[in-house]
Amino acid sequence: MTDKPTKEQVIAALGTVQEPELHDDLVTLNMIRELNVEGGKVSFSIMLTTPACPLRGQIQKEAEQAVMSVGGVESVEIKMDSDVPNDGRMRGLVQMPIRNAIAVGSGKGGVGKSTVSVNIAIALAKSGARVGLMDADIYGPNIPTMLGVEKLPPPKSEKLIPAKAYDIKMISMGLLVKPGQPLIWRGPMLNSAIRQFLGDVEWGELDYLIVDLPPGTGDAALSLAQALPLSGAIIVTLPQLVSLEDAGRGLNMFRQLEVPILGIIENMSYLDLPDGTRMDIFGSGGGEQLADTMEVPFLGKVPMDSEVRVGGDSGKPITVTHPDSPVAKALTDIAQNVAAKVSVAALGKENALPIKIVE
Ligand SMILES: Nc1ncnc2c1ncn2[C@@H]1O[C@H](COP(=O)(O)OP(=O)(O)OP(=O)(O)O)[C@@H](O)[C@H]1O
Ligand SMILES: [Mg+2]
Repeated sequence: MTDKPTKEQVIAALGTVQEPELHDDLVTLNMIRELNVEGGKVSFSIMLTTPACPLRGQIQKEAEQAVMSVGGVESVEIKMDSDVPNDGRMRGLVQMPIRNAIAVGSGKGGVGKSTVSVNIAIALAKSGARVGLMDADIYGPNIPTMLGVEKLPPPKSEKLIPAKAYDIKMISMGLLVKPGQPLIWRGPMLNSAIRQFLGDVEWGELDYLIVDLPPGTGDAALSLAQALPLSGAIIVTLPQLVSLEDAGRGLNMFRQLEVPILGIIENMSYLDLPDGTRMDIFGSGGGEQLADTMEVPFLGKVPMDSEVRVGGDSGKPITVTHPDSPVAKALTDIAQNVAAKVSVAALGKENALPIKIVE
């Protein structure tokens, strides 16, 4: 008869399983919780750094295989859990339980920032993360329309209560002013509006706050990026040259502000036609090239699909209405990529990990 396995043997086996994104093993990263070994039955939780972990299935499978290879183990039960690390940037400026704020920017207008913001937020929420979406495009706030939200709930004790849609919490200047009213801001006002936006909103606990920025590298984007302690920025571009030039400028602005660049998304990369051919309406490969030149990660390509526009106009985003479409899948993969990059960046900082080993 084989000897019963010990906890030490199981921990040693798990110590051989790598977290591919964080480049260390599950034990060193303190990801193993509630380890229980009873006879040949082993059970434990794996605490990931994001519920949107793109390699969740792979990690679970490898952990299971590693433990099964320990002599005497008859069964393995693994619970997948997550705790999103905080990169610490949000602590200083505003006292808020927001773990990571991610800006979505571009140099150019109309490249799909708001569309990407909405769908990434929804994809992260679908994975189980607590997500907020801040429409910081104070000149042309589009998020309420894209989410089909017409008003905010009544404020409570002088705090704004975000609207809720598709499991995300959302706030937008578009809901604070009369529709159609032009919005004119000057630098200092802009800064204080953003601070208020953050401090006076009852966000509750959030793993990710996605911030949809106005286009350009002008005053607005600049003061926004300064007013907000951002964990990182995502740059959206089209594959065409003029968009790339603008995206490069947007990227450099964030660099100057010492905001880490999480990566570049190429939107409207191609259009698949009914006859099976593919059309590169705005050229091809530009986003990857830019990522290469700027030495930042390339987060993925999003194809064109008229359903994206229909979804945006009708308040029913494509990740909700057509979750299996190539566009929704691309956006979901990108959301997972972003979550992984945020984890990697946060774990690089001291005291970033709220995770402690629990036996
Ligand atoms: N992949 C796509 N396929 C088809 N239409 C798209 C796609 N991405 C965005 N669109 C459409 O393009 C238009 C512009 O997108 P969006 O408003 O998201 O861009 P933006 O960068 O936020 O613009 P702005 O600079 O004005 O804030 C919208 O009508 C949107 O529905
Ligand atoms: Mg927009």
